[in-house]
Amino acid sequence: MTDLRLGVLGYGLRGSLARTAHRPGAGSRVTALADHDPAARTAAALAFPGARIAADHRKVTEDPDVDALMILTPDHTHTALACEVLRAGKPVCVEKPLAIDVEGCDAILRAAYESGTRLYVGHNMRHMPVVRLMRDIVARGEIGTVKTVWVRHFVGYGGDWYFKDWHAERRYTTGLLLQKAAHDIDVLHWLAGGFTQRVQALGDLMVYGDNPHRRATGEPKADDWYTEDGHWPPDTQRALNPVIDVEDVSLVNMRLDNGVLAAYQQCHFTPDYWRNYTVIGDAGRLENFGDGPGGVVKVWNSGRSAHRERGDAEYPVPDAEDAAGHGGADPLLVDEFVRFARDGGGTDTSPVAARMAVAAGVRATESLRDGGAPRTVPELDPELVAYFDRGQSR
Ligand SMILES: NC(=O)c1ccc[n+]([C@@H]2O[C@H](COP(=O)([O-])OP(=O)(O)OC[C@H]3O[C@@H](n4cnc5c(N)ncnc54)[C@H](O)[C@@H]3O)[C@@H](O)[C@H]2O)c1
Repeated sequence: MTDLRLGVLGYGLRGSLARTAHRPGAGSRVTALADHDPAARTAAALAFPGARIAADHRKVTEDPDVDALMILTPDHTHTALACEVLRAGKPVCVEKPLAIDVEGCDAILRAAYESGTRLYVGHNMRHMPVVRLMRDIVARGEIGTVKTVWVRHFVGYGGDWYFKDWHAERRYTTGLLLQKAAHDIDVLHWLAGGFTQRVQALGDLMVYGDNPHRRATGEPKADDWYTEDGHWPPDTQRALNPVIDVEDVSLVNMRLDNGVLAAYQQCHFTPDYWRNYTVIGDAGRLENFGDGPGGVVKVWNSGRSAHRERGDAEYPVPDAEDAAGHGGADPLLVDEFVRFARDGGGTDTSPVAARMAVAAGVRATESLRDGGAPRTVPELDPELVAYFDRGQSR
């Protein structure tokens, strides 16, 4: 089988996904790449010898020797780039979040529908071993029918990852409740078997807004912007983004279209980084402790008791083959995208679900900026839902 020839737009931090997809002789390779930034182009030329490297994305979207594209640019650029690629008839993987507003998501889904071009969304968490383990437990009926899901996200590296570049600005992300939470809202929807219909949220910029150590406009990020064990507590952070107008704490309540009630909480200044899920059904409860290798998902379902350390069943989080890419999720995401771009068929990630996660995040952000007033999440056009339910065929 010849390699699928991949074009890549954007080669920043998430360039890691392009490197994962570069498997010459093994099904896919990067043959063209565009980035505005000269330093990114230099790095790309080293990573992908022989690839055509350009500043203008059109050099890649219009390249006849590119079979499919990966969009790895910042969130606010996804809508325009994805619509352009879809209309050019090239299958595309768009990084999450799909877009920064509902209209942008719907425009992408419509461009896919009208052009008949394959659209894939990079919700890699659906391929994370801990998520698949929880989903299998739910699917086996070990906790009965899911009734409520509570997710706590401790974003220990939040100051480094989200308050030192474009992530810190509403105009590029809408807010971190969308930017960061789109993954977990999607997983929560997947575990609960429904999509959010009503949403209500509170949130605030509690810590990073008070830190005066900002870079000047145009000044590049400091070389030590991220270190494994440094930059904590948050008042020791330096060289933050010049503008910070997103929240660093947010609390969301959701009512799903199947009656499930859910909650999601995100904090960007915890000492630890991990996600804790509790899923309660009408016949049991599951909870994860740790979300990578060494972690465990416990299930309690044998009867009532006070707190018990041991679960009635305990399942270790499986070791991933490649721990480098988001707990092994990235290689599996690439496998799925390459197969889908080539042959079509079903996928575990879903453009409709990606749109519903963004829609919930957008309305939740509106709610928290409006004193917590509840919001209704707009439905997606049923014609588009039906098209994607049929596996993107007419
Ligand atoms: N799924 C995940 O786990 C995950 C993890 C990290 C980031 N992301 C997503 O990946 C995307 C990229 O994030 P990042 O952290 O790599 O950002 P980044 O800022 O590090 O890199 C983005 C790159 O895109 C380039 N760029 C911007 N506009 C462009 C355009 N029109 N054409 C060509 N290049 C352009 C920039 O010069 C930059 O080099 C974002 O949407 C982000 O939310 C997803």
